Amino acid sequence: MPGFFYGRLFPSGSLHLIHSSYSVHWLSEVPKGLEQNKGNIFVADTSPKTVFTAYREQSRRDFTMFLSLRAEEVVPGGHMVLTLLGRCKTDPCGNKIWGLLAQSLVDLATQFLKHHSCINESIFFFGGGEFIEGSDVDTFNLPYYNPCTEETKAIVQTEGSFNLDKLRTFELSWDPCNGDDIVVSGRNVAKSIRAVAEPMLASHFAGAIIDILFINYARRVTEHLALENTKHFNVAILLTRKSIGILVMKMTEDDSGQNVTNCLQELLLDQLPISTICSTSLPGIGLNTRRWRRT
Ligand SMILES: C[S@@+](CC[C@H](N)C(=O)[O-])C[C@H]1O[C@@H](n2cnc3c(N)ncnc32)[C@H](O)[C@@H]1O
Repeated sequence: MPGFFYGRLFPSGSLHLIHSSYSVHWLSEVPKGLEQNKGNIFVADTSPKTVFTAYREQSRRDFTMFLSLRAEEVVPGGHMVLTLLGRCKTDPCGNKIWGLLAQSLVDLATQFLKHHSCINESIFFFGGGEFIEGSDVDTFNLPYYNPCTEETKAIVQTEGSFNLDKLRTFELSWDPCNGDDIVVSGRNVAKSIRAVAEPMLASHFAGAIIDILFINYARRVTEHLALENTKHFNVAILLTRKSIGILVMKMTEDDSGQNVTNCLQELLLDQLPISTICSTSLPGIGLNTRRWRRT
């Protein structure tokens, strides 16, 4: 479906099932207030706490908006299945894959500095006459956040349009082929991250750095995999759009409200749930009712 999913995509009440795969961890924009996230491109061990807070809040706003918009489009009782990258509670950053990319960018900036300060070296080190400077890395941050399951549950509950029926977590290797050769795995991971990140990198840095950046990145991923077989932490959730119901309010405990309920059931052919409540059992409304009776 082409379109920006932080805006409306479909007509109201037109969908019975939505499935979104590996997309809703992308934010509507890079959060504000990341000036101190120097040398990083996402939340990292060295990021100030404010960086994590800015990302978490942006994600909360965006996911709330996503749910409210989809709630308009899904019929009552309709379902939404979302698969997204999440975060294991025991690993607050959980983003080594981006951390390695940040290190590769810093490597290129460092190499540029070395070559730039050496008169005999060609400053056209990257072939296309394009360079990357440390300050470019400092101002680049990803519009991405991988929430932990507790955050996801809390947002669904607070937004209120959907019931969270199921939540499953599973891990997948960084390299989908996951063979024995970690050099090949390093290259595979670099290709998959390049497919995702190249447009963002090319629009911030010079496009000419991309090839050399991902050669460096593949090497760094291989070195990392030699030490640790880190995996992606995935979250899949099944949501059901809450039904719209009708509340019949009876004025006293003696009033059965049954006539009204029967009429409505006939009219609506049992399509909507109908509940009956006594106004005096609601403190605020009960007070008003007594006032109405007096006047
Ligand atoms: C990793 S790809 C997943 C593609 C596919 N759904 C799959 O599972 O293979 C993430 C996709 O999300 C899309 N995307 C990210 N943010 C978006 C937004 N705000 N609105 C619409 N699409 C978005 C990207 O364009 C990209 O196609």
